[in-house]
Amino acid sequence: MVAIVVGVRDGRAYLSATDGQVEAAESAVPARFPDSDLPEEALGFRIQNYGIRKHWQMFTPRQLTAMVTLSDLVKAIREDVRSDAATAGLSGEEAEAYSATAVTFLALALDRCADSNNTLCRWDHRGKAERVTNLFARQAIPMVWDFAEANILGERSVCWNSAVRITADASEASVTESSRPGHARQIDAASAWDGLKGVLVSTDPPYYSNIGYAALSDFFYVWLRRTIGDLYPDLFATILVPKEPELVAAPERFGGDKQEAKEHFESGFRKAFAALREKMDPRFPLTVYYAFKQDDEESDVDESETEGDNGPAISRTTGWETMLEALIGTGFQITATWPVRASQAWRMRAMGSNALASYIVLACRPRPEKAPQANRRSFVAELKRDLPDALRRLQQGNIAPVDFAQAAIGPGMAIYSRYGRILESSGKPMGVRTALALINRTLTEVLSEQEDEFDADTRWAIAWFEQNGFAESDFGEAELLSKAKVTSVAGLQQAGLVHSGGGKVRLLRPEELTKDWDPTRDKRLTIWEVTHQLLRVYFHDKAGDLATADLLRKAGSRGDLARDLAYRLFGLSEKKNRSQEAQAYNALALGWPEISRLARDGAKREVPEAELFGQ
Ligand SMILES: C[S@@+](CC[C@H](N)C(=O)[O-])C[C@H]1O[C@@H](n2cnc3c(N)ncnc32)[C@H](O)[C@@H]1O
Repeated sequence: MVAIVVGVRDGRAYLSATDGQVEAAESAVPARFPDSDLPEEALGFRIQNYGIRKHWQMFTPRQLTAMVTLSDLVKAIREDVRSDAATAGLSGEEAEAYSATAVTFLALALDRCADSNNTLCRWDHRGKAERVTNLFARQAIPMVWDFAEANILGERSVCWNSAVRITADASEASVTESSRPGHARQIDAASAWDGLKGVLVSTDPPYYSNIGYAALSDFFYVWLRRTIGDLYPDLFATILVPKEPELVAAPERFGGDKQEAKEHFESGFRKAFAALREKMDPRFPLTVYYAFKQDDEESDVDESETEGDNGPAISRTTGWETMLEALIGTGFQITATWPVRASQAWRMRAMGSNALASYIVLACRPRPEKAPQANRRSFVAELKRDLPDALRRLQQGNIAPVDFAQAAIGPGMAIYSRYGRILESSGKPMGVRTALALINRTLTEVLSEQEDEFDADTRWAIAWFEQNGFAESDFGEAELLSKAKVTSVAGLQQAGLVHSGGGKVRLLRPEELTKDWDPTRDKRLTIWEVTHQLLRVYFHDKAGDLATADLLRKAGSRGDLARDLAYRLFGLSEKKNRSQEAQAYNALALGWPEISRLARDGAKREVPEAELFGQ
């Protein structure tokens, strides 16, 4: 034990631990705790490598004693609740159900305690909070070296009382006056559809080998089983969560065999979608939610790799590809796609990390038996014809730049899945991977075609940015490029885009741009400046939505092009692994709906000049 943290008036104080405190912590002797094994290996688990082999080894003796004691108390209170309910006038059956419900919620509260009272809970020293964090910040059990142990019997942060309160709040929030009782059944999507038909399906399927849900849920399951296992004997029949039916490509479940793991996942997916197709109510589409980022690696067209489609290597198989293959291969057609913006909290995280900010929802219907056939050439022509409009609509709908490539998969795949099959020039049917690559290529083409709409200085800056970012490079190179783009370095300098001197040229960073810039008075106004001035105000100065909107309003009709440029520059930054810049452009596009709404409102409020002069 290193220190004791105590609350003081303005925050926290850190004191040396006394012998008595150390002794108190070490004297606990836990008994009757679940003695279950951790998997030898599992996705996202690191702790086994450091000697933690059992679930209980993730707790100190004192934490474990607290867990066991609370679990016993929750079990013991069941009878009290039942008899109180009977005394209050409930029938025997009702009183039984009432006490089972109360105890079930208390068991969930105990699981919440488990998440925050273990030896993998870090001390968060950032900001003002200074508090114990919970283990499951993400779906993994990483190794943590230093941990903090909160007072589980306290009143604040992570204690039994707060866990009960949070669980109660959540259950109350999910029941409204108009709620009707629901019924949940846990079944294996790939096999157990007996007796079901005419179902409406909306699914958020697992992503290949992204998360090991089953192994992770054991952490919680063992405590639930200990506390309320007898109430739900079917659900808690096994010591640990059943792993076998889980659709995940986890080689460790197949003795390290990647190919077998891949086959398990893919065949399970196909079985699940085939069952869905048979059991779904034909009046409604199947909706599939997907939020999985396609690897950059996959976005390049490599004709030699993509044409044949014979047995892709596992490293290149994406979640998207597997999902689409199963979906389309079992006879579904994608009829519509929507990007759905995620919650504010998720978006904030996306702003800081380049993670996806939207889900993509695919609406799918059974493809008619007699769907037509097409060939590669006509497919590409159709992509070129239809994708620009679809992409333009996505941009206008302000899909976040990080999601743009994902979102483009939807309309592209809608074209692909319309056909029974698309033949390659070799006569072989085109696989999903090739189609994805062609969609990506069209996306890149469409984006670079949009460049024609920009002014010459901006076109120069895009090409320079692609090469050098904001770093400096030779004047000669800049001059040569300026000839190709029909401008000049002197002109670019005059426009306020570059710094030139000592034989070197570089683009000005947004934070270096003139602060009192007014687009209405700029003699050589460029889209580049509009985008980067907006970026300066919004992202660097953090001047807020209103100040940014004010600038956007002054930029007038150039606003839309400035947003298109932010998309373009995001794409280039991501391609070149310039994540800081990518984040900034992404953030600007994410904030755009609000900024442009405020800009419009501001414009309405302003009295037109003509009116002022009574004309
Ligand atoms: C992307 S997650 C869905 C998360 C969910 N939307 C939520 O917010 O909690 C995929 C889910 O599929 C489940 N799953 C995996 N294999 C399954 C199977 N064979 N049958 C049914 N569900 C399965 C996983 O356990 C996981 O909960």
